[in-house]
Amino acid sequence: MTDPNDDLLEAAREIQSAAHVPYSEYRVGAAIETESGEVFVGCNIENANFSNSLHAEEVAIAEAVKNGHREFVRIAVSSGRRDGVTPCGMCRQTLSEFCKPDLEVICDEGESEEPSVYTLGELLPDTISQETLE
Ligand code: THU
Ligand code: ZN
Repeated sequence: MTDPNDDLLEAAREIQSAAHVPYSEYRVGAAIETESGEVFVGCNIENANFSNSLHAEEVAIAEAVKNGHREFVRIAVSSGRRDGVTPCGMCRQTLSEFCKPDLEVICDEGESEEPSVYTLGELLPDTISQETLE
C-alpha cells in the first residue's frame, strides 16, 4: 500500500509547476528514486512542432543518469488532473533501459485516494533490452 501523500509522489506533484505546456495544458511531473535514496525530478516540456515534446519521466531519468545513477527502485508520476496518468509507451521503454522489471511505478490518483501502483514489468513485459542484444 502506498500513502497518497508519499514523499516521492509529493515531489512529482511539486515539479509540475515547472512544466512548459502551452499546447496541451496537461502538466506532468515525475520523481525517480535511486537505489541510494536520492530523488531526481522532471516535468513535461512541449514544443511548437508538437512531436519534440519531452516527457516528465524522460527528463527525470536523464537528470539522474547525468548525475551518475544507474540503479532505481521507484518512480512516481502525477498529472495536473491527478487522474492516474501512467507513463506512455515511449517512457516505459526509456525506463526499461535502466530499471529492472520490479521497478515500482506509482501513479497519482489524488491526495485522498491511494495511488495506482504497478511494476515496470507489468506495464511493459518482454521488452527489448541490453541482454536481448548480447
Ligand atoms: N506526457 C508525459 O510527460 N509523460 C507521459 O508519459 C505521458 C504524456 C506529457 C506529454 C505532453 O506534454 C502531455 O503529457 C500530453 O500528452
Ligand atoms: Zn511518455
